[in-house]
Amino acid sequence: MSQSLTIALSKGRILDDTLPLLKLAGIEPVEDLEKSRKLIFTTTDPDVRLLIVRATDVPTYVEHGAADLGVAGKDVLMEYGSQGLYEPLDLKIANCKLMTAGPVDTPEPNGRLRVATKFVNVARRYYAEQGRQVEVIKLYGSMELAPLVGLADKIIDVVDTGNTLKANGLEPQELIAHISSRLIVNKASMKMKHARIKALIEVLRDAVESRA
Ligand code: ADP
Ligand code: PRP
Ligand code: MG
Repeated sequence: MSQSLTIALSKGRILDDTLPLLKLAGIEPVEDLEKSRKLIFTTTDPDVRLLIVRATDVPTYVEHGAADLGVAGKDVLMEYGSQGLYEPLDLKIANCKLMTAGPVDTPEPNGRLRVATKFVNVARRYYAEQGRQVEVIKLYGSMELAPLVGLADKIIDVVDTGNTLKANGLEPQELIAHISSRLIVNKASMKMKHARIKALIEVLRDAVESRA
């Protein structure tokens, strides 16, 4: 019996880095995903389709079973909370670091620290563990702007080369976590489609290891 699989991905670096891995598993989209406005794509494997969703929405589609599998950054998973999902494989793509950052050579304010980020749960947890009182300000992007215009003292964001921080007069400060993207799996799918999903995980594991 053939079992169909739906895989949720986001456009950009996750798509770019995941497609070569899926290709090794015999899964190739039949049209150019980056050029199309469609959101559901068939592949060269008649039993596999791809969904294009926002990076932060990937865990939602997978936890609710709208997709069997997905690829999401560890930062997104830390923020979402991953107890409703399986996370069987580190794909070792989209590598970066989740960090605090602030204006270069600027001492911390005396009062309560204001931290702007899209990772509000991560931020609250991080400072709570240190017993530090902070005000967390939710943003949806361009976090680097916040300290420049007095919205916040610091930010929490992912850092790769550090160029974005530098271009805005900010410096990386505390390391919160090393980040890479993970394969995530719906819990019911893992039971119901076990052989199919296990086989895919093993092919992807070999593909990741052959690149290391
Ligand atoms: P978004 O639309 O949420 O910004 P991205 O494609 O930029 O989506 O990011 C997807 C994932 O890639 C993030 O969750 C993070 O794990 C990782 N990532 C983000 N920015 C970088 C970067 N500059 N370098 C490497 N990896 C990154
Ligand atoms: C990400 C992140 C930082 C930047 C860090 O943004 O939000 O702004 O990369 O990378 P760097 O340390 O190499 O400069 P992205 O490029 O994903 O743009 P976005 O604002 O569209 O998410
Ligand atoms: Mg981004």
